[in-house]
Amino acid sequence: MKIAVLGTGGGARAHIAKLAELGHEVHVGTRAPKATLARTEPDMMGTPPYQQFLAEHPGTGLHTFGDAAAEGDLVINGIDGHNAVAALSAIADQLAGKTLIDYAVPFVYNPDIEHPWPTPWGAMPVLDPCDSDSLGEQIQRALPRTKVVKAFVTQEQATVVDPKAIGGGDHTMFVAGEDADARQQATDLLTSYGWNDVLDLGGIVAARGMEMYAHMHSAIGFALGFGTHFGVKVVR
Ligand SMILES: NC(=O)c1ccc[n+]([C@@H]2O[C@H](COP(=O)([O-])OP(=O)(O)OC[C@H]3O[C@@H](n4cnc5c(N)ncnc54)[C@H](OP(=O)(O)O)[C@@H]3O)[C@@H](O)[C@H]2O)c1
Repeated sequence: MKIAVLGTGGGARAHIAKLAELGHEVHVGTRAPKATLARTEPDMMGTPPYQQFLAEHPGTGLHTFGDAAAEGDLVINGIDGHNAVAALSAIADQLAGKTLIDYAVPFVYNPDIEHPWPTPWGAMPVLDPCDSDSLGEQIQRALPRTKVVKAFVTQEQATVVDPKAIGGGDHTMFVAGEDADARQQATDLLTSYGWNDVLDLGGIVAARGMEMYAHMHSAIGFALGFGTHFGVKVVR
């Protein structure tokens, strides 16, 4: 299948590598391909420059966000949450009629907050939107011709593409979106990654809870030791 991954960050790279391994034709989107390939330093999260990743994972095309989206029959959004609505709105035509799986978190870094939560990298970013809206809903409103599915967001993407690395795969992943066929498409992709417990949460409004879980995911991660990978299981 032709799959576009919009984003070159650490999470996007997990999908790019796994999709290529599964035999998909992968088209990667970035703001400016030449600038992305010219970077020589790791980003603020320590992610190595993209050229290094590409050398280790040849065979995937690097395009602008719009050109990558145009190539994909299915699209994954890995654009940083604070900039995703603007970046995706600009390529609405290329995304029309397609399923867009969004895993971004609407984190705002370094805000002026009253009660900061200290973390290994400074203050915990705040979520915006939060509670009465979500990034998933904002993207769906901005792209009425696209079937938006919120998924993957409750996990490190390294675990999303390799669920069996945690507890033999005995944990739960979630999907939400307005279109049942699109939710099934996301579920099928997750099944191909190795997931066997995908919980369909229904409409895109459930993206609120999925995104707000980011704080709980961080709290558990800090308790277990920063960098520890873990899963959550809905027992029923
Ligand atoms: N990493 C994970 O395991 C994980 C897990 C759950 C959720 N998330 C969330 O998923 C999102 C993506 O995470 P990630 O780790 O894959 O990558 P990331 O490092 O958070 O984001 C990198 C991508 O965002 C793009 N970007 C940054 N600023 C932009 C701007 N002003 N306009 C347009 N695009 C911009 C970059 O474009 P260029 O390619 O041009 O540099 C790059 O492709 C984030 O919201 C993150 O919080 C990540």
